[in-house]
Amino acid sequence: MLLQVVPGCDMAGVVVGKGEGVMKFSIGDEVYGNIQDFNAEGKLKQLGTLAEYVAVEETLVALKPSNLSFEEAASLPLAVQTAIEGFITAGFKEGQSIFIVGGAGGVGTLAVQLAKHVYGASRVVASCSAPKVEFVKSLGADLVIDYTKTKYEEIQEKYDFLYDTIGDTKNSFVVAKDGAPIVDITWPPSHPRAVYSSLTVCGKNLESLWPYLESGKLKAVLDPTGPYRFTDVIEAFRYLETGRARGKVIIIISPSALPSLVPCDQTNKTITPEMMPQLQEMAVH
Ligand SMILES: NC(=O)c1ccc[n+]([C@@H]2O[C@H](COP(=O)([O-])OP(=O)(O)OC[C@H]3O[C@@H](n4cnc5c(N)ncnc54)[C@H](OP(=O)(O)O)[C@@H]3O)[C@@H](O)[C@H]2O)c1
Repeated sequence: MLLQVVPGCDMAGVVVGKGEGVMKFSIGDEVYGNIQDFNAEGKLKQLGTLAEYVAVEETLVALKPSNLSFEEAASLPLAVQTAIEGFITAGFKEGQSIFIVGGAGGVGTLAVQLAKHVYGASRVVASCSAPKVEFVKSLGADLVIDYTKTKYEEIQEKYDFLYDTIGDTKNSFVVAKDGAPIVDITWPPSHPRAVYSSLTVCGKNLESLWPYLESGKLKAVLDPTGPYRFTDVIEAFRYLETGRARGKVIIIISPSALPSLVPCDQTNKTITPEMMPQLQEMAVH
């Protein structure tokens, strides 16, 4: 059986309708979020942001900081939520040092910035390949290791926290101090001492970053090959699968047919419960 799925977790857009009881947002609000919701059994409830519209619970969404473009905002939720959760898993604290394996990718670029500019790490060291060393330094890394030239065993310094975004803990564990937390965001972790960390999807963790995003301390990093048009989605995924992305790969979906497509009451701009199946149908197929 072939199951159809509309991919995409992250989104940024404008509220065009709201369900009864939605208090947090109004029609016209600019919002962003990760809609990858899970049910009580931990099973994936929805995906589908590669669509013109999504129906999403208000708890998953936050107001978009006004200084961010939609593209910038859409690049943040999943990656930043993953990084935050990894830091929580490790109990990472101000003044501690961190080694980030893979500082140039979607999660890594945010992990570097969070460590330096939000958590107040004493020392942020990250790895990437030679062409990206200066770029990762510009995000706030104190030292960047070119993994094509230096092996983990050659690094003398040891760190309070090892955060591995590429699934290499069987090798990278050597840079962690004795007993220091080792967090791997890929499954399954390849070192027995590594703890797998997944993300917590909610709008609150995005709201908590408002001051850092508004002040520009935390920046969205958009891969320079994008943004891709909706018609080039396959190309965008092929590029992502090379494992060479620099920051986040963005796809733009233009809601050109918006007023005629949205199944909301055009007089008072609300979505009634009866309209939800139609809206969800549009969002997930
Ligand atoms: N647990 C969760 O909740 C969660 C959430 C999101 C993502 N993930 C997983 O986390 C992983 C990373 O996601 P992502 O979105 O950050 O991936 P990504 O953007 O595709 O990562 C690409 C980056 O990986 C770097 N890289 C590749 N090999 C490397 C190596 N040996 N050493 C250092 N850097 C290396 C590349 O840098 P160079 O070109 O310089 O090599 C590139 O910049 C994926 O496996 C993803 O499925 C898990």
